[in-house]
Amino acid sequence: MKAVVLVGGAGTRLRPLTFSTPKPLLPIANIPFLERQLHWLAGYGVDEAVLSLGYLPEAFLEHFSDERFGDMKLRFVIEHEPLGTAGGIRFAAEGINERLVVCNGDVLTDLDLAEFVTFHEARGASATISLARVENPSAFGVVPTRSDGEVIAFVEKPPRDQAPTNWINAGTYVLEPSVLSSIPPRLNVSIERETFPRMLEHPGQLYAMRSEGYWLDIGTPEKYFDAHLDVLAGQLGLPPTPTAKEQSPGVWVEPGAVVEDSATLEGPVLIGAGARVGAGAVVRRSVLGAGAVVGAGAIVHESVLLEGARLGDRESLDRVVLGDDVRLDVGGAA
Ligand code: GDD
Ligand code: MG
Repeated sequence: MKAVVLVGGAGTRLRPLTFSTPKPLLPIANIPFLERQLHWLAGYGVDEAVLSLGYLPEAFLEHFSDERFGDMKLRFVIEHEPLGTAGGIRFAAEGINERLVVCNGDVLTDLDLAEFVTFHEARGASATISLARVENPSAFGVVPTRSDGEVIAFVEKPPRDQAPTNWINAGTYVLEPSVLSSIPPRLNVSIERETFPRMLEHPGQLYAMRSEGYWLDIGTPEKYFDAHLDVLAGQLGLPPTPTAKEQSPGVWVEPGAVVEDSATLEGPVLIGAGARVGAGAVVRRSVLGAGAVVGAGAIVHESVLLEGARLGDRESLDRVVLGDDVRLDVGGAA
């Protein structure tokens, strides 16, 4: 099975991190988000993924320079101007004439893709949308359905308190070729605002499956941080990284990390390869990327240090993401 992953957005809500790294390549607990997503797709037999690129495409080409992810073949399609979600899918799927899985490139989920495809097939749908339940649906596409899953309406980002249900578009779709060919080529088209609402004019085409599994859109700083803690807590059913060892409950350490004896790690915590935690430092509910440094006596609380970031002696961080190689040393002691 083939997949298209939409990774063309600019990730504006995650600036400044996304000025230099596109959102899908930002790590979640030390593994680039997109790799987590491709791993999930591969687990359901997806053997080829087309990455629909627009913003900072070179970063993806460099990251996956052998055009593979494990056994999965990768293809890159670059939009020279944003084509929107449906326009992007249409452009990326040029030449593909079979059923496709499509994913938003910022959704962390353990959705059972096999069950999802079976649901789609059983209803003879042209398109099926996966649904997740959230507290505040107004930031999402809201999707009321009949009891058999047929979609009644698709309302993208309704005003607060006007959403007809808490079930929202979770950003994974199964699409038949007929849907792809209905999208006008080379135009900016939104699947949420145009393609799906238009499909509702013909009953029996558009279905949606509710799923109670893990689901998170990582697109805001708060959610990006939450994703780290959820991965550390095993909510995706996997250890946070293949090489981390759990030294005590919730305290994961990668090979080559050095933690001074007098330092305190309060889980959930992940200390990346070659990272260093100085004497007397406290790292609590946080993630250190590879080679990150926490100075002596420093305190890191609910924060993320990306690869190579350095925090000086006796400095403290509280709900902060330090970008790659950033050095924070207000006291100038490190
Ligand atoms: N190729 C391409 N071209 N990709 C794009 C474009 C484009 O012009 N615009 C956005 N994308 C990609 C983004 O990179 C992201 O992976 C995905 O499409 C969705 O865009 P977001 O900007 O993250 O949208 P959202 O989070 O506000 O809303 C979408 O996702 C929600 C679930 O997380 C919608 O699909 C909502 O209906 C949905 O509920
Ligand atoms: Mg999003």
